[in-house]
Amino acid sequence: MKFTTKHLVLRPWVESDAMWLYHYAKNPKIGPVAGWPPHESVEDSKQVIKTVFSKEETYAIVFNGKAIGCVGILIYPDGNHYWGEGNGELGYWIGEQFWGLGLVVEASKRLLEHAFKDLKLTNIFATFKEGNNQSKRVLQKLGFDYYDELYNVDYRNTRRRQWKTTKYRCTKTINLF
Ligand SMILES: CC(C)(COP(=O)(O)OP(=O)(O)OC[C@H]1O[C@@H](n2cnc3c(N)ncnc32)[C@H](O)[C@@H]1OP(=O)(O)O)[C@@H](O)C(=O)NCCC(=O)NCCS
Repeated sequence: MKFTTKHLVLRPWVESDAMWLYHYAKNPKIGPVAGWPPHESVEDSKQVIKTVFSKEETYAIVFNGKAIGCVGILIYPDGNHYWGEGNGELGYWIGEQFWGLGLVVEASKRLLEHAFKDLKLTNIFATFKEGNNQSKRVLQKLGFDYYDELYNVDYRNTRRRQWKTTKYRCTKTINLF
């Protein structure tokens, strides 16, 4: 699927996004806080597009024709957790030069609308690592509320290192659309 918002296009990742993906995802301020290592090369980014980003409901955030971030709803067995029948998990990141513009909220709102209306999901959960207040703010702006705490493991993780994370939940579609 493809979605258009005021400033963005959300569409599936394609291999030719690898160059821009590497450009933004090599930044150590992006991946580790979201649960994955910084990308090491354009080839590494290409592999991520073919594996992780090829999952259902995972979209490139496209601005002026360039993939600048990612937003997705993971539904079991994708992702690290079973969130319950009819539930999913929201995830996102955006290149550092685009932080603070509200673009991830804009993209996530559109995807949440899709998740509730088209996919008929009941609850969308999201987690953020202790101290990731930027992500917490995004969830607050989207109408998520605190749910509980858990330990999460990183994606592409070989050592299964665990992180304390806070879990938020969104069921309130009415405020969003
Ligand atoms: C979390 C993230 C997706 C937020 O995206 P965004 O589009 O910048 O979100 P917003 O513009 O709504 O800003 C959210 C908060 O980030 C903070 N922020 C904004 N610009 C910032 C900057 N340049 N540097 C640090 N923090 C900043 C502000 O506290 C802001 O809240 P406010 O609007 O109440 O002031 C983005 O920071 C990011 O990609 N971070 C790294 C990856 C990550 O954390 N992913 C989520 C894993 S759970």
